[in-house]
Amino acid sequence: MIDVAIMGHGVVGSGVAEVLIKNAEHIAKKAKNEINIKYILDLRDFPGLSYSEKFIKDFNIILNDPDVRVVAEVMGGLHPAYEFTKSCLEAGKSVVTSNKELVAQKGDELLRIAEENNVNYLFEASVGGGIPVLRPIAQCLTANDLYEVQGILNGTTNYIMTKMVNEGVAFPEALAEAQRLGYAEKDPTADVEGHDACRKICILAALAFGKHVYPKDVYTEGITKITSADTAYADFAGCVIKLIGRARLTENGKCSVTVYPAFVSKKSQLAHVDDVFNAVAVRGDAVGDVLFYGRGAGKLPTASAVVADIIDAVKHLSSRKYLSWDKAEEGYVTDHTEATVRLYVRAKADKCRDCLKAKAEELFGELQYLGRNGEPDDELAFITPFASEKTLFSQLEKLNGTVLGAVRLLD
Ligand code: HSE
Repeated sequence: MIDVAIMGHGVVGSGVAEVLIKNAEHIAKKAKNEINIKYILDLRDFPGLSYSEKFIKDFNIILNDPDVRVVAEVMGGLHPAYEFTKSCLEAGKSVVTSNKELVAQKGDELLRIAEENNVNYLFEASVGGGIPVLRPIAQCLTANDLYEVQGILNGTTNYIMTKMVNEGVAFPEALAEAQRLGYAEKDPTADVEGHDACRKICILAALAFGKHVYPKDVYTEGITKITSADTAYADFAGCVIKLIGRARLTENGKCSVTVYPAFVSKKSQLAHVDDVFNAVAVRGDAVGDVLFYGRGAGKLPTASAVVADIIDAVKHLSSRKYLSWDKAEEGYVTDHTEATVRLYVRAKADKCRDCLKAKAEELFGELQYLGRNGEPDDELAFITPFASEKTLFSQLEKLNGTVLGAVRLLD
């Protein structure tokens, strides 16, 4: 029998306990060992549960118990998750986690510490919830030179956008529903402002291209400025708006990494990824395009990935797994403003719509004009030709109108 501990009994932690208990027999067969939850660390009390006696409030009980060989860190946040994880790894315990913030910020360091102590640090649940994506990238696609990873990486925002577009639900209502369903982070800012998707694309980029990408180096924009007018114009253009995380290797061995809402053609598979579903598209030189799709958030889908990592860690108590990457050099992530894109623009004319139209054509060249039902007389919406972001956004400032919306197109 192998003793494990769970740190955190929130949405994911309680799901991990539930799956480990409910599927104990089957899990024991897979792990070739019975897995016993010895402790659950949480400062809150949970009376009335069938496993209430397992709760502790002192981390040192886990740290100092040599029988605990695997620890699931499902607390979230950087502190004290970082200190607890580091101590566990240094004490020779494997750690599995769903904590993308910690992996994105400290993954290189924690993986090094795991290696030095011949234990595992596994984090399948940190990207794509229940979708198996990190292992396939690290293992099944390892023969390839991977050069692009992009996807819909946040269930909450995808749920919100889908509700807004398909059901005409207002943003606050859609967000409240996502929180009720356990999709959203404790602080929903991380979801709606793109930080959660940013952490996930950092992890994907690190794994795919072998060098750590820090969230601070990634241009990140959320969905809070998107309105129903923008989604209507997108529809006219044959597109939907999705929050897209994207990482691409550039010719000079650097990496372009961004998170922003984008017009996605309805012809693309990503356009049809709705509700809480996530999708990760990976491009490799041998395999071509591969798409991973599934539930990207929620208690049991995420617990499914955490428990799989626990089983894997139990099966590899004295051998190392393959997940790792190196530190990146300064300047590895390129300046996003150098990227070439097309931009959707919605603007309100200062004087007249025709003057705005003339000025827009003078600034950007040939434009693709868009329309929507109920379009105000003084509103103009168009898509620019390709140009560098730097150029496009500086031209926008010269328009004789107020810019109400600007969204990049996914090429
Ligand atoms: N808040 C995250 C999401 C949870 O909505 O995708 C899963 O990482």
